[in-house]
Amino acid sequence: MVFLAAGVLLAAAAAVAVWIGNSRSRMEKSEILKIGVLIYKEDDTFVSGIVEEMKRQFKDDEREKGSRIRMDFAYAEENQSIQNEQIDKYLSLDYDVLCVNLVDRTEAAIVIEKAKAADVPVVFFNREPVAEDLQQWDRLYYVGSDAKESGTLEGLLVVDFYKKYPEKLDKNQDGVIQYVLLEGESRHQDSLIRTEYSVQTLVDAGISLERLDGGIANWVRSQAEALTTQWLKEYGSEIELIISNNDDMALGAIDAVENWHVKFSNIVGIDGTPEGLAAVESQKMIGTIVAGQEDYARVILDLAERMARREALDGLDIREDKSIRIPMYSVNCDGKIRRLEEEGKEEN
Ligand code: BGC
Repeated sequence: MVFLAAGVLLAAAAAVAVWIGNSRSRMEKSEILKIGVLIYKEDDTFVSGIVEEMKRQFKDDEREKGSRIRMDFAYAEENQSIQNEQIDKYLSLDYDVLCVNLVDRTEAAIVIEKAKAADVPVVFFNREPVAEDLQQWDRLYYVGSDAKESGTLEGLLVVDFYKKYPEKLDKNQDGVIQYVLLEGESRHQDSLIRTEYSVQTLVDAGISLERLDGGIANWVRSQAEALTTQWLKEYGSEIELIISNNDDMALGAIDAVENWHVKFSNIVGIDGTPEGLAAVESQKMIGTIVAGQEDYARVILDLAERMARREALDGLDIREDKSIRIPMYSVNCDGKIRRLEEEGKEEN
């Protein structure tokens, strides 16, 4: 009995020693903090904007604080298996924290399992894991914009435009707005929710709508151009409004309209990319929603660094669902800016 108890104690002591050893080696290694950033693909305009901001802020930070951090990037060519391998690699190289822009947001569980086993925290961003997955471990967070808010703001852009210029929107004066809708990837949280709320906001404002057509262009400008060209052939001047889930697809619609040599600018987008904003300024679009890439980058880096250093997360606006939402506002072709939270319309 005594031997047994002593054995248990020894085993426990050994386990504690291993644990202390591990955390010590992690602390020694963490002299240089290593951040691994994993991106679903290389040529997504909006996500690239966030990445460029992360690099820029990281450089400024280094200059200002002389902080010893290293940040590396891996692109997954839209393949979750490739991203999983990249995660394995970063974990085997003792990275201190991972920032993950998932390929497939329904496949977060496997990423979480790997990170948890290695005790490496994860900041997911832009492509949101399903709610239950985020609850699996306390060292997981999500940074992203609120899809409902962006969809609502997009709808309000059209409502305001209609109030101000009814004849420009309802071109045939039949009291109904005939529209087409460009959707992002079918499994992306932003596609489904933005589509729903942009349309619902118009309905709630008492605007009668007729959906002529809609289609998935996967956030991609050239795919949106192809779809819009098809619709222009089919519906021609019947189309009074093009609602797009993001700016790149709105720009694709503008490309199609310009190739078709028609004058048409009743197009709305979301993201506030530099090209999107330029199109709004030059009156080629009604407006867009700015989900600040600078803010995104700042919050991701701050959260990642604090988690890696096991610091408190005070002052960060973390919601109950373990997410931090990036504030948004709309900009229209008259240069007017609108924010929901200032109007007390943010429900979350
Ligand atoms: C953006 C899209 C982007 C997508 C990538 C969305 O939130 O609006 O422009 O392509 O995220 O995940």
